[in-house]
Amino acid sequence: MTSQRNLKAAVCIMIVLLITGIVCYASFTSPVPEHPLRLMFQNKAGKVLFTHLSHTDDYSLECLDCHHNIEDDETYNCSECHEETGDEDMPSRADAFHAQCKGCHEDSGAGPVECNSCHAL
Ligand code: HEC
Ligand code: HEC
Ligand code: HEC
Ligand code: HEC
Repeated sequence: MTSQRNLKAAVCIMIVLLITGIVCYASFTSPVPEHPLRLMFQNKAGKVLFTHLSHTDDYSLECLDCHHNIEDDETYNCSECHEETGDEDMPSRADAFHAQCKGCHEDSGAGPVECNSCHAL
């Protein structure tokens, strides 16, 4: 009888320890972010700080609003297609950024549209 009670107690302790372990693991291991918090674009007009996380979470935008290609192609990198110099069919990287960033800010009446409110650093 005693040994059965001891066994029960031991199993209880094991379960408690297991749960404690899982809770600690979950609360102290920060998950790997699947998309960037913020990005800094270096260029000759002055650095541009882009708050990627605010744009998705606070301004409620969908990935596809910007990554207009991800249905056919998994890349999140604009320069994969929009190179330094563009042509009629394919805007250059800078033209693509200006059209998309400024375009949406103008359309939604929110967000910077002046040169130095983006090129602020
Ligand atoms: C407001 C526009 C916008 C939205 C919305 C957006 N992204 Fe992005 N994202 C960008 C831009 C711009 C870049 C930079 C691409 C580059 O440098 O060529 C980027 C970069 C990335 C990168 C690559 C980061 C790196 O450093 O290489 C990943 C991954 C990514 N986005 C995932 C996502 C996911 C997932 C979502 C939806 C939850 C999302 N993005 C929504 C604009 C956006
Ligand atoms: C896999 C290739 C690919 C990637 C990656 C890509 N684009 Fe494009 N983009 C295209 C092609 C092709 C066009 C021209 C045809 C069209 O309008 O869809 C285009 C057109 C555009 C246009 C002009 C749209 C219009 O209606 O005139 C903008 C703005 C743009 N891209 C922004 C971006 C931005 C910003 C990123 C990164 C967040 C990006 N693109 C990533 C292929 C890509
Ligand atoms: C599809 C719409 C959309 C696109 C694309 C977009 N933005 Fe925005 N942006 C917004 C909105 C909405 C706000 C919020 C304005 C507010 O609430 O005051 C904003 C705010 C900002 C702000 C000021 C607040 C902050 O979070 O820093 C900056 C800077 C900014 N955007 C830069 C960019 C850049 C750079 C790009 C292109 C890489 C971009 N945005 C693309 C919609 C967009
Ligand atoms: C909504 C934000 C935003 C506004 C407004 C804006 N830019 Fe930009 N600009 C960017 C981003 C983002 C890039 C791309 C940086 C990169 O390629 O990584 C860029 C790139 C550039 C480049 C570098 C181009 C190249 O070929 O290397 C120049 C020059 C520039 N912008 C000038 C301007 C001027 C002039 C204005 C005002 C008429 C302006 N920008 C308005 C966000 C903005």
